[in-house]
Amino acid sequence: MVRTTVTVIKADVGSVAGHHRPHQKMIDYAKRKLAEAEETGLLKSFYVYSIGDDIGLVMTHHRGEGDSEIHKLAWDTFKEITEKIAKPLKLYGAGQDLLKESFSGNVRGMGPGVAELEFEERASDPIVVFAADKTEPGAWNLPLYKIFADPFNTAGLVIDPKLHEGFIFEIVNIREGTKVKLKAPEELYDILGLLGTPGTYCVSKVYRASDGEPAAAASISRLSLLAGRYVGKDEPVLIVRAQSGFPAIGEILAPFAIPYLVAGWMRGSHNGPLMPVSFRKHSAISFFDGPPRVIAMGWQIADGKLVGVDGVEPADLFDDPFWDYSRQLASQIAIYMRTMGEFMPARLEPSELEYTTLPQILKRLEKKFELIK
Ligand code: F6R
Ligand code: MG
Repeated sequence: MVRTTVTVIKADVGSVAGHHRPHQKMIDYAKRKLAEAEETGLLKSFYVYSIGDDIGLVMTHHRGEGDSEIHKLAWDTFKEITEKIAKPLKLYGAGQDLLKESFSGNVRGMGPGVAELEFEERASDPIVVFAADKTEPGAWNLPLYKIFADPFNTAGLVIDPKLHEGFIFEIVNIREGTKVKLKAPEELYDILGLLGTPGTYCVSKVYRASDGEPAAAASISRLSLLAGRYVGKDEPVLIVRAQSGFPAIGEILAPFAIPYLVAGWMRGSHNGPLMPVSFRKHSAISFFDGPPRVIAMGWQIADGKLVGVDGVEPADLFDDPFWDYSRQLASQIAIYMRTMGEFMPARLEPSELEYTTLPQILKRLEKKFELIK
């Protein structure tokens, strides 16, 4: 049986109207570049999306995770878009997420975000790729917990014998570069103890406990930690397999109904509600550079290729009147959070602000402080 890999690599390499959205020429360039790679046989199929000021490349192939050719293709695409389009048009933040000058085998640690999942194709293999804007990788902790560990969200954990044995969470400490595998339901409280601190602990992979099948993969890099300064938020991506022994599509989408608070809104320094939106209609940000948002793209994987509703065009999973309610709620929460201005917890706590510009402002005050006698 052939194994197929889904690789999603994304970067913000410049945008129009400040941080609003990429230029169409950038998207078209990425499509041409990946189409060439499809012709040579490097890629089996691809899809180019944008959310906020980010461009994402969804690629399928048979070369496994972390393949240097696939990573180089993505790196070159973002580099060429920067040099040929973003810089000449003076787009905002041209080349922003490309932290290194030259490619060295893998884009991990170089700025772009990566999520990859290699698996043996089932008779029918549905996947969902989520992409978020104005937030960080830990934003997936809450929905991943609900999808794979909460029976009040995922009925299959109770009802379906294949899900009943639970799931294994691979959790990374992104500040220290360590990881741990914990199993739900047995180690649920330990899992929650870590996932509740999303600025430090992020889920990188989820496996089905009964047979070790990969179920989900998330991007885990934090740009600010890589660069040592604030260079923009990370707009994380997440790949989840669905149905027939994995959570149903509806169970995978359900955690997004009540917009939960995530870090990364405006200047990477605020908490805001994560709003589920249609990628065709609402993927660019506006109110207070937000609010943070998430899109959900659905495909089948067949013989190594993405199968969408029309060619590779994915199903737009948050384009349903149901989600209008969640969007309304997100708008209300967003306005409510803004009434707090620069007070925590609307503004992030100091350790999360480490690399933004506020510490530079406060540094000037240091000399004015006197000891209390
Ligand atoms: C960008 C973002 C924005 C910017 C803000 C200030 O992804 O989150 O909220 O941080 O617009 O940007 P500068 O400092 O570039 O003017
Ligand atoms: Mg950005």
